This record gives sequence, structure tokens and C-alpha cells, in this order.
Amino acid sequence: MVPILRSVASLRVQVAQWRKAGLRVAFVPTMGALHEGHLSLVKAGLAEADRVVVSIFVNPTQFGPNEDFAAYPRTEEADVAKLEGAGAHAVYAPSVEEMYPAGAATTVHVAGVSDGLCGTFRPGHFDGVATVVSKLLNQAQPEIALFGEKDFQQLQVIRRLVKDLDIPVAVRGVPTLREADGLAMSSRNAYLSPEERATAPALHRALSEAAAKLQAGAEADPVLQDGIAAILAAGFGSVDYLELRAAEDLLPLARLDRPARLIVAARLGRARLIDNIPVNPA
Ligand code: PAJ
Repeated sequence: MVPILRSVASLRVQVAQWRKAGLRVAFVPTMGALHEGHLSLVKAGLAEADRVVVSIFVNPTQFGPNEDFAAYPRTEEADVAKLEGAGAHAVYAPSVEEMYPAGAATTVHVAGVSDGLCGTFRPGHFDGVATVVSKLLNQAQPEIALFGEKDFQQLQVIRRLVKDLDIPVAVRGVPTLREADGLAMSSRNAYLSPEERATAPALHRALSEAAAKLQAGAEADPVLQDGIAAILAAGFGSVDYLELRAAEDLLPLARLDRPARLIVAARLGRARLIDNIPVNPA
């Protein structure tokens, strides 16, 4: 049975034992409700390290007051079974009180990359992410930490904070795992009705179509407007944003003149779906 660690102290004891034995430790932070996308991070960790720890913690500080913290799916038993099947060596699942003891007063804010995109539509979200990821990395002290490109802005926020806070960990970005019809795997896909689920792949389709036009030399603005119109026409309720950003620093681009990402967030029923794809000059 894969051990489930509930305290910072027990996590530290486990990792220290492995380190003493000369084993390399990889760490995969998650909020649970695990799917194949999460498990691909575990697989990537196993390819590079001797031991893989996965955290399951639905982090209250990264949810806004009107967001889905209470409704977020919590499926620990099934998650642990999946992790065991994937070959993870330990699960770290602390309580909210263990993570944020009374009196906790420190927030990590990463300026620049946290602004715009999801930062505009989810005020405070990336402060919550940056704070909990800083804590998790300090608690586990892994050699390697793995994050999905699915949350591309989050990945850039984490790369920045690891550099700025001199956290001794190698951050790895792992490509997005998708369903056969292109929909990016996400715990929030569970919110979709069958009809919404049939509409959802329009998001990835719009990204792919926009990428092709940009690669053919089109200006970004009209291409992005067309993309938004296509997503709405497919049945999404609203589009928070669809933008072309430089892959390196997330700065807005007027045309495809360097390696970039097309990044989107849109609402479908009660789900807010995000996605992005790489797009490079021909
Ligand atoms: P969560 O949404 O559970 O995602 C955990 C990790 O899995 C993130 O690094 C995310 O990018 C990655 N992931 C999700 N869907 C993926 C997919 N389809 N393909 C590849 N990777 C995928 O992201 C969070 O949790 C939290 O913000 C967290 C970093 C744990 C901090 O609380």
C-alpha cells in the first residue's frame, strides 16, 4: 500500500530516509480528482527520479469567494488507488489546518506573470498558488517538481518564484494530455453535462484553427476575434480571454514573430475551462 502522509513532519521523515539512501525524489502537486493528465506527471517523475511523492490538497487560498472551492471534487480513495497503480511511492494529503496553522500571515506574490489572463479574471488566484507551491516545495524539498503545461500561466508563475526564492528544485513542464476529441483533461470536466461535454472540444478546435492562420502570417487581432466568435457559436456561454502570448515571458504579441502560446479561458455551463497550445513561427 502506498503510504498516505498527513503531516509536514511525516513527509520530512520519509523524504529524509530516501535522501539518506541516495535516492532522487520527484514531487507532483495536485488538488486530487485525478485523471490521466495527472498520472502523466507521475510517469514523467518516475522516468527521472527514484521516488515520486504526489500531494493532494484542495488549496482554499487559490479560490475566489464565488468560486468552486466547496464543490471541487474530492475523491481521495479513488485517487490513492490510481496513484498506487501509476507507481507513486507516497501520497501527501495534509488538512487545511496542517497547511495553514492559525496565525499564518505570509503570502507569496509573483509580479508580472501573475497579471493578465487568469490573473485578471481570478484576482488573488496566483498568490494562493504561489504561496501553497512555495510551502509544498519547502515541506518536501524534492530534487524535481513536475507541473502541467495545461496551466501554462501557473507554470510560468512557478518557474519565476523558484528562481526568485532560490528554491533548490528543478521544475519540469509536462505537455497537456487530451481526450481523443482534443478536450484537455481536467478535473473540472466533471462539471459538464453530456451536452456540454459534446460542445467542449470546440475550445481546442478554435485554438488549432487560430494557430494555422497565425502561422500563415495573419495579424493576431482579427484571428483572435474570429476564434472568440467560433467558441461562442459552438455554445460556450462566454469567453474570458483568447490571447497570443510569448512563450518565454507571456508578453502580448501582435503577430507570430517568436515562439508563442495561444491561451484561452471560457465558460461552459458551470465549468470554467482553460486551454493553450504552442504556436511557432514557420
Ligand atoms: P490540479 O488542477 O490538480 O493540477 C495538478 C497538476 O496537473 C498541475 O501541474 C496541472 O497543470 C497538471 N495537469 C492538469 N491537467 C493536465 C493535463 N490534461 N495534462 C497534463 N497535466 C495536467 O494545478 C493545480 O492542481 C494547483 O494549482 C496546484 C499546482 C496543485 C497548487 O494548488
